[in-house]
Amino acid sequence: MSQQFDALIDSYIANKVGIDKNFISTALSKGLQQNIRQLQDDDALKTAGIGNSRLKDANQQMRSDKICWLDKTNNNVYEQEFLELAESFIGHLNRTCYTGINSYEFHYAVYEEGNFYKRHIDQFRSDSNRKFSLINYLNEDWLEEDGGQLYLYQDETVQKIQPESQTAVFFKSDEMEHEVALCKRSRMSITGWLKQV
Ligand code: OGA
Ligand code: MN
Repeated sequence: MSQQFDALIDSYIANKVGIDKNFISTALSKGLQQNIRQLQDDDALKTAGIGNSRLKDANQQMRSDKICWLDKTNNNVYEQEFLELAESFIGHLNRTCYTGINSYEFHYAVYEEGNFYKRHIDQFRSDSNRKFSLINYLNEDWLEEDGGQLYLYQDETVQKIQPESQTAVFFKSDEMEHEVALCKRSRMSITGWLKQV
């Protein structure tokens, strides 16, 4: 378990972008996909906000995905398993890197065809609680032409990541500029933040 976490942490230390192509199991990925389909059927995915702003129109020019927050009290077996994995990762990170993370939040996100999230960082100006971003993708057989890649901007370079099932990406929320390219196919993920509150 902690060896698995080291893959994500070591690549983060080396490149400022941690990547692990096997962070969650296939079974958990499928369970979480199933949860998202249920949320879609229940019309429970909502337009996401940006920062603390209530300006919905401005938000939608920045991002057009729909989200729903995970919550342990939902008593969903896959959601519980995912959040327990996230908690183990946080414990390991705190022990090995002295990060002092004491809170977290995760949401499901769905980008339909035509959706995007323009270049941004994840820490709000008015709220510096978010220390690290952790993204988990839930899409099988993602092709280059499906769009929806995560673009990460560092210095003069752009790193592109396919949102493929079981892949996790980890970076610092206050410095890493990133973007979700225009999606040409429905794209599912769980995105979250490790926080100090
Ligand atoms: C976000 C975000 C990236 C992705 O939700 O803040 O940047 O690849 N997501 O889904
Ligand atoms: Mn982001």
